[in-house]
Amino acid sequence: FIPVRLTGVGGYLPRDIVSNDDLAAKYGIETSDEWIRTRTGIAQRHIVSGDETTASMAAEAARQALDYAGVSASEVDSIIVATSTPDRVFPAVAVQVQAILGMTKGFGFDISAACSGFVYALATGSALIQSGQAKKVLVIGSEVFSRLLDWSDRGTCVLFGDGAGAVLLEAGGKQGEGILSTHLHSDGTTGDILYVDGAVGCPSTTQHLRMQGREVFRHAVVKLSQAVDEALEANGLTGEDIQWMVPHQANLRIIDGMAKKLALPAERVVVTVDRHANTSAASIPLALNEAVRDGRIRKGDLVLMEALGGGLTWGSALIRM
Ligand code: ACO
Repeated sequence: FIPVRLTGVGGYLPRDIVSNDDLAAKYGIETSDEWIRTRTGIAQRHIVSGDETTASMAAEAARQALDYAGVSASEVDSIIVATSTPDRVFPAVAVQVQAILGMTKGFGFDISAACSGFVYALATGSALIQSGQAKKVLVIGSEVFSRLLDWSDRGTCVLFGDGAGAVLLEAGGKQGEGILSTHLHSDGTTGDILYVDGAVGCPSTTQHLRMQGREVFRHAVVKLSQAVDEALEANGLTGEDIQWMVPHQANLRIIDGMAKKLALPAERVVVTVDRHANTSAASIPLALNEAVRDGRIRKGDLVLMEALGGGLTWGSALIRM
């Protein structure tokens, strides 16, 4: 058994900030700050402009994670990028990041699991290390969800933002430290409640995100609860043992519901949805980056992550920092 430590964190948010009021004024969306805030907790989002891409944001987040860990890009064995919004069909974003970081060794690939992508990538990176195939793995979530939005659908376009977050995983440490367990699930029979209509070259498609919000909400509460219970049971823990929850940032009401289930006080839950909106696979590493860098999450703390997204996909992870 090879323990897997999380040794670096990083994040990148696009320069342009769009407030709820801007959505009405600049994008002509019939909405209000009050409607968005009360239903989602979102006040603003970052949206890419100019030369900002999924790969450029991923690379910047990765650079920060490497700096934090004191590791150089040439030491990295593998890069995994979770994204639903690659800049090209191929090469993968991870391979573009390799080039931006100046790496010519190792290997990279992307993972598509929508908003659960980071948990999936974390589980995959951890498995690469545990099976001896890699010693240092960059796990990144990077998204330009603004590309997928139908700006005439106010029920979805107000919910998402762009950004990237990264962590560095390294082999080593004591048993009971680092990634304790990961738990992944998917169910394709619920694919039609949250999906992107088509892809490059698919005829008669809009290539826009479509969502039945209430259905997603209903599934999120049930499935996230199950994934959290699974993580606790697998490690012989109860909600009281959790020091921090770093959830996928889709909606404040879902986050509050999960915190209540664990009896976690609000100050133990990392929330960024108010400023970042839903950045899909980037939301967990962006939130983790913020809470580690501002000193809230410290070495030795027990952190629970959970996410649900299109697929449906969902999962959880427990980490001793
Ligand atoms: N501004 C103003 N009014 C709006 C807006 C808007 N942006 N969007 C919808 N409305 C209106 C609707 O037209 C509707 O009006 P009507 O009653 O006159 O027809 C009314 O508000 C209610 O619409 P609903 O869609 O029923 O609103 P609901 O209360 O369900 O809230 C929401 C919508 C916030 C999306 C909610 O369903 C939700 O949070 N779902 C969870 C889904 C989620 O978070 N998805 C993120 C992606 S998945 C993930 O990452 C987990």
